[in-house]
Amino acid sequence: MSYDCISLNRREKIGIIKLQRPEALNALNHQMIKELDQVFMEWEADEYVRAVIITGEKNFAAGADINDMLDFNPEQARAFSFRHCFARIEAFSKPVLAAISGFALGGGMELALVCDWRIADKTARLGLPEINLGIFPGAGGTLRLPRLIGAARAKEMIFSGRTINVEQALQYGLINQLADDALAETIQTAEMLASKPPVALKLAKQCINQAFDIDGTKAIEFESIAWASCFATRDQQEGMKAFIEKRKPEFTGT
Ligand code: HXC
Repeated sequence: MSYDCISLNRREKIGIIKLQRPEALNALNHQMIKELDQVFMEWEADEYVRAVIITGEKNFAAGADINDMLDFNPEQARAFSFRHCFARIEAFSKPVLAAISGFALGGGMELALVCDWRIADKTARLGLPEINLGIFPGAGGTLRLPRLIGAARAKEMIFSGRTINVEQALQYGLINQLADDALAETIQTAEMLASKPPVALKLAKQCINQAFDIDGTKAIEFESIAWASCFATRDQQEGMKAFIEKRKPEFTGT
């Protein structure tokens, strides 16, 4: 499949997706969402991809495309919703990292919120300005933002539509790290994650994601089953033997 709104790059075990509509600050349209969905579907099945980075040309993304949304009726608005694609990214079995420069607004910030790890540089501006358009965040922001930074801060950002800088985003816990070069730092982090045992990583991610959706007793039960299944992998043997033999483990994903 050829892509019009994104470009793809592979660096060994890392897949890099660049949002590429710079003339509209990478505003997310239907085609871009379709393309993102397709790549995540393909890379889910690709065992050589161990981590994925989402980044943007100059900016991350200044939200959903407002030109597209202007004349929507409620049915069309619901069909436009990014929820299926964003759910696929959130459930992706390998780490997904956002490298944020420039604007990450509205649906763009909500895309960053479905990632597991967010690294931004000093140029980053984050916010959910939808309220100023007579709407509010509709791509998971009302759920994922309060989970991440708490309801009080989330309400402050969603009600005011205020854009925050990177220092504030770091203080809120909205990003993991401030870097001089967001993409370079994110590649380094992705390489570190790609060297970890994939099955244990995948299960840890599933446990953390599930923990928010099911009750505590079930979450602990799920964790213990997932944790125990690590003992069916060679990587568990390798990790523990390497510790005992005082050497670096070599994980194979088996
Ligand atoms: C369509 C957009 C856009 C967007 C920017 N552009 N954001 N087009 N949709 N979300 C376009 C501008 O129209 C302009 O095109 C070009 O990109 C450059 O933008 P400027 O406004 O000239 O740049 P600047 O003055 O630097 O201002 C940057 C900005 C501003 C502060 C980010 O562009 C802005 O406020 N954008 C909208 C942000 C927003 O409200 N996002 C939330 C969208 S709703 P031309 O052709 O004039 O050069 C949303 C809903 C999510 O995301 C839920 C979906 C399911």
